[in-house]
Amino acid sequence: MKFTMTPAETLAAARAPEPGDEGYDPFEAFDRSQGSEAMSDPYPIFTEVLAECPVHHGSMEHRFGIKSVSDKLAGGRPVTSVYSYSGAETVLRDGETFSASVYEESMGKVMGHTILEMDEPEHGIYRALIQHAFSRREMDRWENEIVHPVMNHYIDAFADRGRADLVSEFTFMFPIHVISMALGLPESDLPAFYRRTVELINMAAEMERGFAASQWLYDYLEPVVKERRVNPQDDLLSVLIKAELPDGKRLTDDEVIGFGRLLLPTGAETTFRSSSNMMLGLLSHPDQFEAVQNDRSLVDAVVEETLRWETPITLISRMSMSDTELEGEKVAAGAFVDISLGSANHDPSRWDNPERFDIFRDKKIGMSFGAGVHLCLGINLARMQMRVVLDKLTDRLPGLRLDPDAETPAIVGLGLRSPAALPVVWDV
Ligand code: HEM
Repeated sequence: MKFTMTPAETLAAARAPEPGDEGYDPFEAFDRSQGSEAMSDPYPIFTEVLAECPVHHGSMEHRFGIKSVSDKLAGGRPVTSVYSYSGAETVLRDGETFSASVYEESMGKVMGHTILEMDEPEHGIYRALIQHAFSRREMDRWENEIVHPVMNHYIDAFADRGRADLVSEFTFMFPIHVISMALGLPESDLPAFYRRTVELINMAAEMERGFAASQWLYDYLEPVVKERRVNPQDDLLSVLIKAELPDGKRLTDDEVIGFGRLLLPTGAETTFRSSSNMMLGLLSHPDQFEAVQNDRSLVDAVVEETLRWETPITLISRMSMSDTELEGEKVAAGAFVDISLGSANHDPSRWDNPERFDIFRDKKIGMSFGAGVHLCLGINLARMQMRVVLDKLTDRLPGLRLDPDAETPAIVGLGLRSPAALPVVWDV
């Protein structure tokens, strides 16, 4: 596959000042907001809190002295936080007691009514419509037709240079491109699509721009969806358009657009962060990096250990629908429930030395993709992309290592975690 624009041209067009908004660059704004949460390592606090009790009253962020979104959304209702693996699993597998409708007040305001905030049976009906589009078999096709060419395109731009920032030049760039191709969008629209996606995922820092970007994406996708109804293609929007609900009805334009737009924060941002975390985990543990370079059968173990060690999303939420008990603690009806995936993944009752990055651990599934009916829909896509990232960077950048002349990168953030930059060098 040939692309007509180089990554540099795409980025330059995406960053070009807009009339009336000349001083604003969404990419710079995103970078700034990455550094604004001075949280380098929340894990010691997770360990302390979990050792006290698996379930606490009060929000997770409150424990860090940070203004809590859950507290704000709860508006005076109780907030309960779950820190253990078993507590997280209980909540996520009991959708009757712990409802996903909690997202109506947050993501729902920007994304509309999507599967993320639906409970059963509605959730199951809508999810079934799209589930097969993300099957392992489909992912094999995506891997060859989309993921390989897209990743090569970005690596081609720096492979001869011998140094790069893997975040800004690679991990940040490819996932949005992959989703735009999966939706069947033309390459000429990529810069605008990038720009609005970056504004959308920077929503927490710049609320109004996030809302405007969400509306832009809606207006942009609307005519595309109408056109695909007449002229269906081999892409995700067409899969959604063709899907039939059990009563024979089809999804409305609104529902198709809502789903397409949901893939940006759920799919692109998580993949960018998890790929960055994986490369930093390996580059800062050269012995393990060497082991996987010499034995590619370890790649899956690297992916799973990265996700356990440094999950890109440390927090998800539910709402308690009745008075109940969790790990021996009372939870009131109507309470917001913060589920700390980060803490669950470091639960010492499940993993020895959980803070250690160790690709040779016994295989045990982590909590990074959630659990129960809302288990990540993109789980096969996410794992496949991380695997291809590792294979490609290893094959194409021999002797890859952290840049000794640059500041040592670190994973930062509380709710969303990854390094802001990943300066590397290799042999050319
Ligand atoms: C490493 C990467 C990823 C991680 C860590 C991740 C994590 C998660 C988690 C924790 C949930 C459950 C949320 C909840 O129960 O409240 C979820 C749901 C979801 N994810 Fe992912 N995700 C990743 C990649 C992706 C990708 C690549 C896509 C698709 C393009 C995707 C699409 C979705 C969707 C649509 C849902 C909602 C599923 C439902 O409500 O039934 N995710 N993800």
